[in-house]
Amino acid sequence: MLQACLFDLDGVLVDTARHHFTAWQRLAQERIGVTFTHHDNEQLKGLSRLESLNYILSKTDQSFSDEAMQEMMHVKNDWYLELVAQLTPEEALPGATALLHSLKASGIKTGLGSASKNAPLIIEKLGIAHLLDVVIDGNVVSKSKPDPEVFIRGAEALNVSPSATIVFEDAVSGVDAARAGGFSCVGIGLPEDLKQADFVVPDLSFITIELLNQKFFSH
Ligand code: BG6
Ligand code: MG
Repeated sequence: MLQACLFDLDGVLVDTARHHFTAWQRLAQERIGVTFTHHDNEQLKGLSRLESLNYILSKTDQSFSDEAMQEMMHVKNDWYLELVAQLTPEEALPGATALLHSLKASGIKTGLGSASKNAPLIIEKLGIAHLLDVVIDGNVVSKSKPDPEVFIRGAEALNVSPSATIVFEDAVSGVDAARAGGFSCVGIGLPEDLKQADFVVPDLSFITIELLNQKFFSH
């Protein structure tokens, strides 16, 4: 039986990628002097803040001290937070809030498994914090996806086994993390991008508890 669902945040519950894009692009142009495209932004899905900065710095020959890198991440995050400050509950992605409500109503546990250090603020702004039984985020994990740590810690905190838990992910690294941890995984996006997912839907409005039980627990 389905006992729990673990959700990635960015790209699954909310579209924050466009705000990450704006902030990283500004940093790349104003502070580093390199271009940053939508294609680049796609590569950063699921990566931590430091991994994202390292990706951008790989475009230049200049070298930066640890201190300078910390400052750049700080500045980028300030710009990102200015954009995220405007988030409202209406900006939760289609189906996200409704699915969380129906899982709660059915007694199925819910959790967040995200690389973001801003996760607590964002779920508060979306008005979904009370619908998540546990939040495992970039403030507590030591290993980034595709390492399964974030989801394994989520399942442990909920006291459920990975085999009774479904992960929802939009990033290749996140799908790989789920599989490495022994979880079933529903991809959010395009099937051609998320080949390792058990199945892929465009967004959470396509998901019902009946569908999950039928796909994963009917035999
Ligand atoms: C992930 C996003 O969820 O969080 C990445 O997909 C982002 O793009 C990462 O870099 C870290 O986010 P934050 O909010 O801690 O900078
Ligand atoms: Mg994501």
